[in-house]
Amino acid sequence: MANPRRVLIENQRLSPLINLLKKPLAFPLLLSFFLFLTWITLRVQHSSHFSSSSSLPNSALKSHPDLEILDDDEKVNLVRFDAASLSPVRKDDRGWLLDPVILARDSRLSGGAASCLSIHVGEIRPGSLRGNHRHHACNETFVIWGAKTKFRLENHKVEKGYAEVLIGDDEVAVAVSPSGTAHALVNVDPLRSTFFIGCQDSNMQNSSNSDYKVWKDL
Ligand SMILES: *[C@@H]1O[C@H](CO)[C@@H](O)[C@H](O)[C@H]1NC(C)=O
Ligand SMILES: *[C@@H]1O[C@H](CO)[C@@H](O)[C@H](O)[C@H]1NC(C)=O
Repeated sequence: MANPRRVLIENQRLSPLINLLKKPLAFPLLLSFFLFLTWITLRVQHSSHFSSSSSLPNSALKSHPDLEILDDDEKVNLVRFDAASLSPVRKDDRGWLLDPVILARDSRLSGGAASCLSIHVGEIRPGSLRGNHRHHACNETFVIWGAKTKFRLENHKVEKGYAEVLIGDDEVAVAVSPSGTAHALVNVDPLRSTFFIGCQDSNMQNSSNSDYKVWKDL
């Protein structure tokens, strides 16, 4: 049973607040309070999103907050760098510069080309793709930049047999595809061209030691 004396004390304690809420000042006060609550909620959501997308092993790795990361960068043997901020690929205001073989090695990506015996430099226009093949006689290291690009790599540890990630238009990615591993680069950007370098450790590549059109859905 409620103690009437206690209820009275509670009401007395709350009365200054109730009086304040009856004043014209109450409306802007309440409004500010709810705005503050909204702000806090948005902050909490943003920080939890950020921490889930940055749970990658190497602190140099950055995932783009605007992009949905389909799989972990680790599963596609890839590291990405923000081309705009100071990073291992951009040390001053001139822009970025990198050695793909050294950067892959320093980022502990294993299975790439140990040296570039053969190099391909290319463009992929919006909506187009390159790769979707598997070389059996070379390891390959890629540098990919310029547009929002999907990178897919064969990986039998993933249920679907491959892993894929999206690279942002303001990112530079280095990825490695060991000999016998299928890979594909798809430009999913509405406007920009993807650019890439493919560095292979063999110049013996020909159609007899590669499989083509590996994935039918691309
Ligand atoms: C590819 O890399 C492996 C080790 O990761 C190496 O044994 C092989 O010689 C390399 N080159 C070719 C063409 O397979
Ligand atoms: C294709 O490459 C293999 C080595 O990987 C070589 O033995 C063969 O002669 C090449 N074929 C052609 C047509 O160049």
